[in-house]
Amino acid sequence: MATAIEPATYTAPEIRQTQMLIGGEWRDSVSGKTFATINPATEKVIAEVAEGDAADIDLAVKSARAAFESGTWATLDARDRGKLITKLANLLEDNFDELAALESLDNGKPISDSCAADLPLVIDCLHYYAGWADKIHGDTIPIRGNNFCYTRREPLGVAGQIIPWNFPMLMTAWKWGPALAAGCTIVMKPAEQTPLTCLRMAELAMEAGFPPGVINVVPGYGPTAGAALVKHPGVDKIAFTGEHRTAQIIMADAAQTLKRLTFELGGKSPNIVFADADLDAAVAGAEFGLFFNQGQCCCAGSRLFVEESVHEEFVDKMIERANGRVLGNPFDAKTTQGPQVDRAQFEKILGYIDKGKEQGAACVAGGNRFGDKGYFIEPTIFTGVTDDMAIATDEIFGPVMNILSFKDFDEVVDRANRTNFGLAAAVWTKDVSKAHRIAHSVRAGTVWVNCYDVFDAAAPFGGFKMSGIGRECGEAALANYTELKTVTMSLG
Ligand code: NAI
Ligand code: MG
Repeated sequence: MATAIEPATYTAPEIRQTQMLIGGEWRDSVSGKTFATINPATEKVIAEVAEGDAADIDLAVKSARAAFESGTWATLDARDRGKLITKLANLLEDNFDELAALESLDNGKPISDSCAADLPLVIDCLHYYAGWADKIHGDTIPIRGNNFCYTRREPLGVAGQIIPWNFPMLMTAWKWGPALAAGCTIVMKPAEQTPLTCLRMAELAMEAGFPPGVINVVPGYGPTAGAALVKHPGVDKIAFTGEHRTAQIIMADAAQTLKRLTFELGGKSPNIVFADADLDAAVAGAEFGLFFNQGQCCCAGSRLFVEESVHEEFVDKMIERANGRVLGNPFDAKTTQGPQVDRAQFEKILGYIDKGKEQGAACVAGGNRFGDKGYFIEPTIFTGVTDDMAIATDEIFGPVMNILSFKDFDEVVDRANRTNFGLAAAVWTKDVSKAHRIAHSVRAGTVWVNCYDVFDAAAPFGGFKMSGIGRECGEAALANYTELKTVTMSLG
């Protein structure tokens, strides 16, 4: 794992790349249009970025298709594909400071988080998948008769990848790593809120020496550039991270061409604290599990179930921690909470805070905008939350914690599962068998025991139910980018 660098000296970096990458060349959009990317801490424009639409997507897909079909990438020695991915990881590490600062500038996340979480996870992910490139292989299968049967794992083809704004570089790495290791070529559409780090990563990929057309990046909006990518007949697969409603549109749009789909969507993840837990650890874990990244995490522990007998003590400790969070300039090393990513998210979250108050929950911390510039929201806690309130059912994607009280094991399992989502869950207890019983009963793709948000490139991540289809990270993600071919030969 790359080591985090002391963030005290960071300032906003120079913006090096605002064009789109198609076929190894940097260019303006066909329409000539651009869109502004905003610094959410100041509400000021950082840069104008090339705005792709269907015409640019078409060019990018043709270039990815040509790069795939030329064979220069898919049939390159697998070990050499791995070496190129390693080279990219090393270049990211060489440019660690600039990339961390660029991520904080465009997204608003505290520089200490970019340095301690995003960048190390990104670099680790690419190293991990570099190692897989020459380890993707089939089986020999003892079928009936005098036959020799084996399977091959062939690259799927052109992968369309659509990512959100909450972890712009990490989502890029999670998508590029397994696709490149498998020998696919890529057309990526970064989120319109945060295109800058993906473009800079693509620039470094060119420097690493990826052949033209293997990685294409087209910034733009969802209904134009994103939808064109989903509908394009030259794309074999869409990997999408974002809102479940967007995934529903993508699934319908992909039906015509029967594309392979993997989705990593939202959640309303239960975080369950039993009375026998180490309460201070649970409070710290709950804070991290909800407020990390300004609450903009798909797996945020946004339904915090606390056993009745420790509820009051827990709430008191939690309020103290929430009030101790440091909001402000993301480039200040002491800042622990930055602004929400944009005005739309900011207003959506404030709307949920109002709804929580209207529906009778008690707002015991925060509950308002912080300051008068930038999209900052106070760390907010609601108690007295019931399962049917909007704040307990909907993904808020902000610094709004909902504390629900429960009496016993069966009740909390039942309530934890009463949601259409199933991305993550956590349980805090010293009772090992209780921990495993929760881990096995909660319908979620990831369960953390006495911890939260422990991520690793090697550990599969994804959702049950409406939280997604397929898994990212780990060996599992390679299946998203390969087709299995069976070859049978008569020996008789
Ligand atoms: P979104 O799902 O609309 O956007 C994610 C990506 O999909 C962006 O690149 C966007 O341009 C693209 N997109 C949008 N519409 C598209 C379409 N019709 N076809 C193809 N691509 C399309 O999410 P948004 O609007 O940024 O945030 C809304 C809510 O979604 C958030 O408040 C949060 O609840 C949830 N969300 C969940 C995320 C997660 O990691 N699970 C990440 C981002 C948002
Ligand atoms: Mg949207």
